Amino acid sequence: MTPRRPSPPSSRVDERVDFLIIGSGIGGLWTALKLADHGRVLVVTKKDEAESNTNYAQGGIAAVMSQVDSINQHIADTIAVGGELSHPKVVRRIVAAGPGLVNDLIDAGVQFTYTSRKHTMNTLDLGLEGGHSAPRVVHSADLTGQEIEASLLHGLSEHPNAEMYVHHLAIDLMLGPNDGQRACVGAIVFDRLRRIIRRISSPVTILATGGSGQVYRHTTNPMIATGDGLAMACRAGAVMGNLEFVQFHPTRLYHPRAQRFLISEAVRGAGGILRNRHGEAFMERYHPKRDLAPRDIVARAIVAEARRTGSRCAWLDLTHLRPAFVRERFPNIYKRCLKLDMNITREPIPVVPAAHYMCGGVATDLNAKTNIPGLWVAGEAAHSGLHGANRLASNSLLEAMFLASQAAESAARAMPRMRKHLPAKPPAKRLPPIGRVHQRHTGWKRLQKTMWDDVGIIRDRKGLSRATKILRELRREAEKRFRQQGINANTVEYRNATLVGYLISRSALAREESRGLHYRLDFPLPDDAHWKQDSELKGPVR
Ligand code: FAD
Ligand code: SIN
Repeated sequence: MTPRRPSPPSSRVDERVDFLIIGSGIGGLWTALKLADHGRVLVVTKKDEAESNTNYAQGGIAAVMSQVDSINQHIADTIAVGGELSHPKVVRRIVAAGPGLVNDLIDAGVQFTYTSRKHTMNTLDLGLEGGHSAPRVVHSADLTGQEIEASLLHGLSEHPNAEMYVHHLAIDLMLGPNDGQRACVGAIVFDRLRRIIRRISSPVTILATGGSGQVYRHTTNPMIATGDGLAMACRAGAVMGNLEFVQFHPTRLYHPRAQRFLISEAVRGAGGILRNRHGEAFMERYHPKRDLAPRDIVARAIVAEARRTGSRCAWLDLTHLRPAFVRERFPNIYKRCLKLDMNITREPIPVVPAAHYMCGGVATDLNAKTNIPGLWVAGEAAHSGLHGANRLASNSLLEAMFLASQAAESAARAMPRMRKHLPAKPPAKRLPPIGRVHQRHTGWKRLQKTMWDDVGIIRDRKGLSRATKILRELRREAEKRFRQQGINANTVEYRNATLVGYLISRSALAREESRGLHYRLDFPLPDDAHWKQDSELKGPVR
């Protein structure tokens, strides 16, 4: 498979494949690799082939790989960090699959870090991260995501049944009859370079579009993370859940020339200490696990400490660790900071929390199936029930691998029957014309500021009501832009991001308690009697 830009005869092209996968992060690529043995796979991805949240993952993938650890401990940690909202059966299935999935990645060519020259499952180097009661994070130094992404892309490039269209932005899912039901029958995709629309019919569509960090002003997520999959699924009538649970990573580098650069939690796992402007190690006042408390607690502690001491950030101190160890264990972080004139072995570095991960998403069962026939979901866009109210560090790559494997198995079984009944022509849908290319406009700033100020780390009814009202307006404005200015990456993504912002805000307003990542000043405690359950929204949402 090589990324190709096919030459079209007109401004609209209709195509048909056996499996359509939207997104080329770990969720999409792993599904594609598994499905390519069962039929013709097409992966569409909106930018370059590797551009994804996956590509920036640092810490690693959580799995029980050592004698001093156990599946039960990993399950207990996941549920405790998740504010008791995770679904125990789902947690057990995914955690139990962990060691096998790590093995699958190794078989696929992923080079992890080992403690000795002899590479066996017993010599994998295991990192420690917040909320974990044992070291269990399999990693490739601090560039785990890049290593996984490159290996999976390479694997796919060798498969004759797989093809990838790069710079292809999915606009909406297509719905039509299939096998006697209203089903997803493919997607409408904008080929950004040729500036044409492709209607890609497929009996199986896998949504692997990743996260939505770009709806916030401060985020660790790259520009692609605009929540497109959630918005498309919502418009198509999917059931979504737990969208109020947005994870803020405690330690994004605070530097004007590195606005999204993450400082991995593994740095604190290796002994890094958070300090306030007076140099005090403050985490011991907030949680018995100090710097390795769950992320929601560390993020709120940094905000509280910065307010208390009148500073804009906290400082992460590694200066007591052996410099050679730091350079070897965190080569990427070390080099990036050095380029910004900060030597992490000699001085503490400034860090702030930033939006990082969407714990909720499109509701799935254990086969990664959604409520819409013909539509599966894998990766960060999914809500499987694993994360509950807060994701345990490094459980995301694990969940993505699990759902991708399950989606592939289930979709491969369903495809022959669904292909037989797939309509010969894609369903008719009115679309705006292709518009001129526009840069991100001021509406984005209003969206991101509203989300950060009022739907951020600390929330209350006043702010959430204000935000919901503003976001409703922005949604309307975004729809109007989409209709009037026509299709371009900006109008499509803005339409999606405003819808996702609105859904997050509405879900956060509705949940009148504090649990995990969702912290409300006006309801500061969990309310098990009324709220110990997932929230649910069914699209399309007014
Ligand atoms: P992604 O990897 O984001 O891929 C989504 C793909 O969909 C991209 O190719 C994108 O271009 C494409 N796409 C999106 N919308 C469209 C559209 N409309 N049309 C076509 N294509 C589209 N998790 C861990 O478990 N361990 C870690 O160490 C870790 N570190 C992280 C560090 C950073 C900086 C970040 C941002 C996240 C980290 N995470 C980590 C989270 C984890 O990386 C992600 O949750 C996971 O990689 C998501 O995989 P995915 O396949 O669902 O989505
Ligand atoms: C990190 O390396 O801190 C990110 C890990 C994650 O998001 O799970």
